[in-house]
Amino acid sequence: MNDQGDNRITNRTAVASFFDVCERRFSRRGFVKASLAVGGSAAALTQLSGCGSDETEIIAERDNQWRENNPYKSRYDFKEIEHGADQHHHVAPDHDAQILIRWGDPLFKDSPEFDPLNQTAESQSKQFGYNNDYVGYLSLEPLSGQQARALLCVNHEYPIAGLMFPDFPADGYENITEEQVKVTQAAVGNSIVEVGLKDGSWTVNTKSKYNRRISALDTEIAISGPAAGHHRMKTSVDKRGKTVIGTMNNCAGGMTPWGTYLTCEENFNGHFSGEIPGNHPEAENHKRYNVPTDYTHWGGHDRRFDIGIEPNEPNRFGWVVEIDPLDPNSKPKKRTALGRFKHEGGECIVAPSGQLVVYMGDDQQFEYVYKFVSRDAVDMESPRANRDLLDEGTLYVAKFYSEGYLEWMPLTHDNGPLQAAFESQADVLIDARKAADLLGATPMDRPEDVVPNKETGKVYVMLTNNSKRSEGNHANPRAENYFGHIIEITELDNDYANERGYWDIVVKCGNPDIPSHQSDWSPETTKNGWFASPDNGVVDPQGRLWVSSDQGSKTFMTGTNDGLWALETEGALRGTGKMFFRVPDGAEMCGPAFSDDGESLFVAVQHPGDKGRAGEVRVETAATRWPDFNEKMPPRPSIVAIRKKTGGKIA
Ligand code: FEO
Ligand code: CA
Repeated sequence: MNDQGDNRITNRTAVASFFDVCERRFSRRGFVKASLAVGGSAAALTQLSGCGSDETEIIAERDNQWRENNPYKSRYDFKEIEHGADQHHHVAPDHDAQILIRWGDPLFKDSPEFDPLNQTAESQSKQFGYNNDYVGYLSLEPLSGQQARALLCVNHEYPIAGLMFPDFPADGYENITEEQVKVTQAAVGNSIVEVGLKDGSWTVNTKSKYNRRISALDTEIAISGPAAGHHRMKTSVDKRGKTVIGTMNNCAGGMTPWGTYLTCEENFNGHFSGEIPGNHPEAENHKRYNVPTDYTHWGGHDRRFDIGIEPNEPNRFGWVVEIDPLDPNSKPKKRTALGRFKHEGGECIVAPSGQLVVYMGDDQQFEYVYKFVSRDAVDMESPRANRDLLDEGTLYVAKFYSEGYLEWMPLTHDNGPLQAAFESQADVLIDARKAADLLGATPMDRPEDVVPNKETGKVYVMLTNNSKRSEGNHANPRAENYFGHIIEITELDNDYANERGYWDIVVKCGNPDIPSHQSDWSPETTKNGWFASPDNGVVDPQGRLWVSSDQGSKTFMTGTNDGLWALETEGALRGTGKMFFRVPDGAEMCGPAFSDDGESLFVAVQHPGDKGRAGEVRVETAATRWPDFNEKMPPRPSIVAIRKKTGGKIA
């Protein structure tokens, strides 16, 4: 179903017209040569400046100067930690890594203390949720001396009942109780939590007026944009198709320049069960999105997750949700203009025109890379003016050509085959995957975070892995890609809103000492500097890239737990990784977020202890009881706050 391995270029017209643009000054041969040299970065940009802007030339010149002056000087000063696997977390020497907040910790003055043997939906609704993933940082009071106040906007991706309930039996999923379903629904979604820095330590402020839980249990969320009110968004409960209860599978996200928080719905299919007839109007759609998968058995107790009863309910998930963390009473909005797929993240950047660009990956094997470009410019003077900016704009999907450039194809109803295949723009957005198929987008090796770097103008695409690829191609060069790779995009004219760009592979992940991994790193990479399965990325306030990993069941192939690595992208060391943090056994590294001053780093340790066959792990068999190491406590996903012991920027 998703295995669309055919990457042959079918739209030769686009190829020709694109080269016409550049051939005004440069021959095609010259460009390809330049882009292949030194990883296609600064040299290609210099060539590109013939069809680009002055700004492009300035950035390229700056990069060249930096490279000339610092040929082999790392941009990262910390001492690297080692690969490995044990029950604890590890951070680079001379740094403090403090457990800031754990699943179940109180969020409000009246929150009950966490009691794993007596969990209720009511208590969970007042406590920090499960499986923290994305972390967004919103400054309330910037650093002054050693004090600061900020909001952390945190995703809680999915429940693992077998690790949440200490007495969950072997056949627990088939026989899950109604209250357990409600607890798991309350445990996912989002937390907004105020944190404060005092004397070098961060703590949670449970008295903050901003603290908030949003969950799949009972939070009303508005549906906005082109698909709002469409008949395929209506259910027996919501006859207007404009309000949905909850958000779930919130994987990664993004912060907008006006201070709202984008939380992205990913593997929503896992909560749906039931059947619909093969000739049902939604049958093809649900198959394309793997609905139903029924990992959690919610449908047995909550009828809206049974597609036999509510066939349109899955259409109300798989969106990007915008939350205003500064207004705890505001209703979150599902922004349908950004398309429906298994959204990893939604990283934002402002284009030279002032339009907002949101970069997004659809995290599944053979799925696509997208971006949304707002119709209107961001108003930085008045945040409220941007309130509905995300409702109008163009969603694009990427086609990667073998010559090292790419085209962003608009998913608009009037675009070629989409007019005949769909009735309206709402249909295009609900069936975004099908629309992208019809335009011939390039199926990728699990696109996760897509991270723009405003310091360099480049954009990094994390491609986690794809063991099902039978044959490599230009942008996904390895068959049976177990370890993933990272692509760098340079938009034409350094304009994030451009419909054309260039791409290059920064690293092919895996162990460089094992030839069968077919990895590709800078020769300066140490035995701990390589990693596998890039997932989340963040650019720090100094313009440097950091990458977290999600090896999942492939962990045994590398011998190291997941973690966070710094990755050089400029100069002679481009493609050199350096290991900064390692998670405990069974965990995944998520959510790296820096404070605005670059002195604090927040990381999310997700599903600690979850090692073994999916669905079979239980508290008593968990690979670790991190972070409490108390036999009465299950392992608890937690946010860790990292600072240098001596203070100052994490370097
Ligand atoms: Fe939820 Fe793409 O990891
Ligand atoms: Ca992820």
